[in-house]
Amino acid sequence: MTNNYSEKFEKMRIAGNLAAKTLDMLTNEIKEGVSTDKIDTLGYEFIKDNGGYSAPQFYRGFKKSLCTSLNHVVCHGIPSDRILKEGDAINVDVTAIVNEYYGDTSRMFVIGDVSIKATNLINTTYESMMRGIEILKPGKRLGDIGYEIQSYVEEKGYSVVRDFCGHGISNIFHEPPNILHYGKKNTGVELRPGMTFTIEPMINDGKYDVKVLNDGWTAVTKDKSLSAQFEHTIGITEDSYEIFTESVKGYKGPPYKI
Ligand code: MF3
Ligand code: CO
Ligand code: CO
Repeated sequence: MTNNYSEKFEKMRIAGNLAAKTLDMLTNEIKEGVSTDKIDTLGYEFIKDNGGYSAPQFYRGFKKSLCTSLNHVVCHGIPSDRILKEGDAINVDVTAIVNEYYGDTSRMFVIGDVSIKATNLINTTYESMMRGIEILKPGKRLGDIGYEIQSYVEEKGYSVVRDFCGHGISNIFHEPPNILHYGKKNTGVELRPGMTFTIEPMINDGKYDVKVLNDGWTAVTKDKSLSAQFEHTIGITEDSYEIFTESVKGYKGPPYKI
């Protein structure tokens, strides 16, 4: 590929790959009896050992190196001494910086047997992200992404969180444009080759309203309903898209038995 964004894409590929490999590595560690702090430490060490930094560390005072969002936590859950137990559903969100470029990706993990309700929500959330990704190409518009996600999940009775969105990402963690996970076809900014951003729908079993706890970070569903999220960092190519954060082990949604 020779064009004015090939060097940027090469760096995005390296950072995205490290973030994805971190989640791949964590997959076997996210189990009953493990604290979310332990997941944080393992992620931090792995990223450091592989030539990167964890972006959340010191990001606007966050202090931990990744986010662990359990059950009705929508996003930005802070790792703690909380021990994972049977029936928990957890999102782990990793952002690695390599050579100044960022790779941002998250997946859901389940501890032991979870309810059918949780399984359905998780599967729908994964599928909604992929539907948002699969339409990507130059000429499509940001509203088309939101439309794909929103129409798919609302038809199943779920809601799309409004207060948090995807974002442009390159050698800056969060940059324009905002990527809303709801919207109307044929509206919004037009996609162009070289654009890089995340798609990271947060989907609730109940209503879409969220509130942020007193720690200033943890966002939860107001009605305490379950929430799920997946995230990929992608780039727009000449006629399609590239996912920078694809699992090296081929993991998609749980259960991760490959
Ligand atoms: N990884 C999150 C995102 O997808 C951002 C986390 S910021 C933190 O944009 F400080 F909470 F880690
Ligand atoms: Co993100
Ligand atoms: Co993220």
